[in-house]
Amino acid sequence: MLRPIITFLALACGLVSAQRSQKLPSSFPHDYPGKPSGAFGPEWQKYFEVTDQLPNVTFPFARNFAGNIPVDRPNHPNNTLFFWAFEKENGSLTANAGESNEPWGLWLNGGPGSSSLIAALFENGLLQIQNDYTIAANNWSWNQLADYVWIDQPVGVGFSTVDSDGYVKDEDQMATDFFGFLANLVKVFPSLQNRPLYITGESYAGTYIPYLVKAYFGMTNPPVKLAKFVIGDGTLNTDAVGENLPALSVIETYPQLIGYDPEVYGYFKEQSQLCGYDLNLTYPQNGHFPNLTPPGLPDGNSADSRFSSSTRLRSKQALLSEAKARLSDESEPASKEKRDSWLQEKRDLSGRPNGTIDTFYGCFLWAEMMDYALNFSLPWVNISNVDLLQGLDLYDLPDGLDPETVRSQSDAAFFLNDNRTRTALHAPTSKNWVMSIRYPFGNVQGSADPSKFACQISNLQF
Ligand SMILES: *[C@@H]1O[C@H](CO)[C@@H](O)[C@H](O)[C@H]1NC(C)=O
Ligand SMILES: *[C@@H]1O[C@H](CO)[C@@H](O)[C@H](O)[C@H]1NC(C)=O
Ligand SMILES: *[C@@H]1O[C@H](CO)[C@@H](O)[C@H](O)[C@H]1NC(C)=O
Ligand SMILES: *[C@@H]1O[C@H](CO)[C@@H](O)[C@H](O)[C@H]1NC(C)=O
Ligand SMILES: *[C@@H]1O[C@H](CO)[C@@H](O)[C@H](O)[C@H]1NC(C)=O
Ligand SMILES: *[C@@H]1O[C@H](CO)[C@@H](O)[C@H](O)[C@H]1NC(C)=O
Ligand SMILES: *[C@@H]1O[C@H](CO)[C@@H](O)[C@H](O)[C@H]1NC(C)=O
Ligand SMILES: *[C@@H]1O[C@H](CO)[C@@H](O)[C@H](O)[C@H]1NC(C)=O
Ligand SMILES: *[C@@H]1O[C@H](CO)[C@@H](O)[C@H](O)[C@H]1NC(C)=O
Repeated sequence: MLRPIITFLALACGLVSAQRSQKLPSSFPHDYPGKPSGAFGPEWQKYFEVTDQLPNVTFPFARNFAGNIPVDRPNHPNNTLFFWAFEKENGSLTANAGESNEPWGLWLNGGPGSSSLIAALFENGLLQIQNDYTIAANNWSWNQLADYVWIDQPVGVGFSTVDSDGYVKDEDQMATDFFGFLANLVKVFPSLQNRPLYITGESYAGTYIPYLVKAYFGMTNPPVKLAKFVIGDGTLNTDAVGENLPALSVIETYPQLIGYDPEVYGYFKEQSQLCGYDLNLTYPQNGHFPNLTPPGLPDGNSADSRFSSSTRLRSKQALLSEAKARLSDESEPASKEKRDSWLQEKRDLSGRPNGTIDTFYGCFLWAEMMDYALNFSLPWVNISNVDLLQGLDLYDLPDGLDPETVRSQSDAAFFLNDNRTRTALHAPTSKNWVMSIRYPFGNVQGSADPSKFACQISNLQF
């Protein structure tokens, strides 16, 4: 999933300033029959409920609701966010005010400028588009945990609509819009006002979500009750830190990466601490997110070129090719033996000076972890099927319960722009859904503002 988007974003970033002089596209929500005329309230549930048959969905599934809701930004009536909400149980989302204390969650993709319907249709949602464009039920969809809402935001992204001059100009405006939308959403589903809310997301939502939380704590009367927030594979701080700081928790989540070896775990834990990656944040945080500059990890994207994101991606391909070659080299009589011994090998840690940072990898723990896994444990490999060798793709991790098939496409446009889908979801007709737009924050590159940082990250997506 990574590769096509990298090209797109690299291109996108170069074009942002050029694009600013042009008029940005306008869009607006579509009024479907039965739309209530008054202010938002529970009577809108019937309007938003998805009752039409969706193309290629051949099984019954949870009750769900979708459509556009204004963010209520003054002078921008066409600025809306698009939501798609799935119930945990029949009637759980439409409970009356005060009738439920069940948690609810919302999901945000990143980009900036990527639709959250990517997750709804390829990651954690109920309906999952397959490689052949058929749709299967995801038995582990997050609405089995709680009422869950996937939201396209900021305005203009996915099926969300925006006036030409209404795109958000920074993260604070993004958050204001978002709470404007939420204030309306909870009028439609009044029980949500007082139920514990989990804001969850991935990638550039790692930047959006802290700004949402900041806005939340700045409100005297927030429309929702925030319980927790969760960020997966988030974009925070510099690219290098974002990649290396969580390496140890990735190992803790997937200990098969190091062959479940406690000694190797101890090694990575020590490296992580020596590099300062075990930092703890407080709320309110005093100042900015700490700028980690441990030995061996130059600040930000000027990181050692051996371990820069693009180099790593390239070398990951090289390592994978090498692994494929090693695994499939049946021509060599000793090959099976070689392969078995390779897989059984374990890293020899003796002779390593304790309490010092590795001299080759420095603080590039992500690279070290990947190399270790590729050298010794190959957890992602189905060794009887070399074609399944694909490396560790954080967006497509097979889990122990349900090894996913390798995803060869992630194109939801066909499904979402089909008129039957569009109509069923009460989606706009003034625009077509695209996975990602280059989001024009209106900033110039080069300062530390996270909304600019996005343009500097080559592998940023989703
Ligand atoms: C859900 O509940 C409603 C009544 O609230 C009922 O009419 C409907 O048949 C139920 N749907 C399912 C799938 O159980
Ligand atoms: C999902 O659950 C249904 C019903 O229990 C079952 O028939 C189906 O095989 C499951 N799908 C997967 C991919 O496990
Ligand atoms: C909002 O959308 C309507 C169409 O529904 C359009 O006529 C109007 O010009 C739009 N307003 C702005 C400010 O773009
Ligand atoms: C952060 O907190 C954890 C858990 O309390 C602790 O083990 C760790 O040493 C702390 N890290 C630092 C740098 O103080
Ligand atoms: C590192 O320290 C641990 C515990 O003090 C010890 O068991 C281990 O043998 C040491 N390793 C090396 C390479 O000296
Ligand atoms: C992986 O193997 C290569 C080649 O033998 C070696 O240079 C590198 O240090 C190893 N890395 C790790 C983390 O095991
Ligand atoms: C590995 O691949 C082989 C050959 O394609 C297949 O038969 C087997 O089911 C796969 N094993 C797993 C655990 O996916
Ligand atoms: C429905 O699935 C078929 C494959 O069976 C595919 O060709 C078609 O494009 C899909 N239609 C939509 C609207 O996604
Ligand atoms: C889909 O709907 C739009 C707007 O209502 C219409 O212009 C278009 O012709 C429709 N497309 C198809 C394939 O029916």
